Amino acid sequence: MITEYFKIGNNILQNQEYFRRAGEIIRSGGLVAFPTETVYGLGANALDSDAAKKIYEAKGRPSDNPLIIHIAKVEDADKYCYTNDLYHILAQKFMPGPLTVILPKRDCIPYTVTGGLDTVAVRLPADQNARALIEAAGVPIAAPSANRSGKPSPTTAKHVLEDMNGRIDMIIDGGESDIGLESTIVKPEDGYLNLLRPGGITLEMLEEISPVKIDKAITQKLNKNERPLAPGMKYRHYAPDTKVVLIDSDLNSFIKFITEQSKNRNIAVIVSNTDAEELKKTNAAVLTYGDDDATEAHNLFARLREVDERKCEIAYARLPEKSGIGLAVYNRIIKAAGYEVIKLS
Ligand code: TXA
Ligand code: MG
Repeated sequence: MITEYFKIGNNILQNQEYFRRAGEIIRSGGLVAFPTETVYGLGANALDSDAAKKIYEAKGRPSDNPLIIHIAKVEDADKYCYTNDLYHILAQKFMPGPLTVILPKRDCIPYTVTGGLDTVAVRLPADQNARALIEAAGVPIAAPSANRSGKPSPTTAKHVLEDMNGRIDMIIDGGESDIGLESTIVKPEDGYLNLLRPGGITLEMLEEISPVKIDKAITQKLNKNERPLAPGMKYRHYAPDTKVVLIDSDLNSFIKFITEQSKNRNIAVIVSNTDAEELKKTNAAVLTYGDDDATEAHNLFARLREVDERKCEIAYARLPEKSGIGLAVYNRIIKAAGYEVIKLS
């Protein structure tokens, strides 16, 4: 299959033509990768079971890991699921934006999309190009992140091309994803919200409207007999091929450790810009990802992909702070590390 590649530019008429064509592909059962403010999505018609199946094939994704449906208006959720008061409060505060809500599904949503579950995940993206695509398609768009299963989510069209060229009908290039990590996922329960995946809508923001229970899988490795509430959280996600190890220590001990480790081995560090200065004096390849949690979120997945390009034996990073979007950075990086943390005293 030849993958068409469309770059959004300043020519409005030409952009409209791209979206018209992309909408047609979605309606006829094809796959289109598109930008969102979180990460790139791999879209198909959410009402078409066969189209959804193609997503799992293109990604190499286990069929029990459900997809998020993307809608163009808050009210559209009522067509595809049974909404409740908490949904409408969340929608008023945080939609459009990086928030996904789990609700009981209506019959029109096939079980292929929900991985066999009776609930469906709904999201209204803030990205203009994502919304233009949903509107052009005229149907809700089922879309997981547009990476091959097990790879970090794509935050540029180039990442999508690396993983999906020849496997999908079209890629729409809308530039770098703004946030860089996948949406926050919540499930409204009686009197509280279950937080299934942290993201751009932070725990602190959610707590302003409801009590929140944090799923254990966000910060800790589950035992064999435990299941996360979001099926996808059980897979070794977000991971580069290079082994990633997290270090729990102050900066001085980290520098000492890296100085030793880098003497005879080809290693990399993923660190903040401030930490980078001292580490550049060691033999390690230094990848910086920002100086505040939002910038770290924006750059993390691109750096994880770079680690593989550099063919290092191992990449070390320090544990991030867990406040604000930092909790999402913490969650993605600890999963990339397979929960391996070394504490230095
Ligand atoms: O920001 C995002 O959410 C991006 C963009 C493209 O919108 N999408 C994304 O999709 O991250 P994906 O498939 O990579 O992650 C969806 C997560 C998975 O962990 C999945 O298990 C969970 O949502 N999920 C989907 N439907 C669910 C449901 N009915 N109940 C519980 N978890 C669900
Ligand atoms: Mg994903």
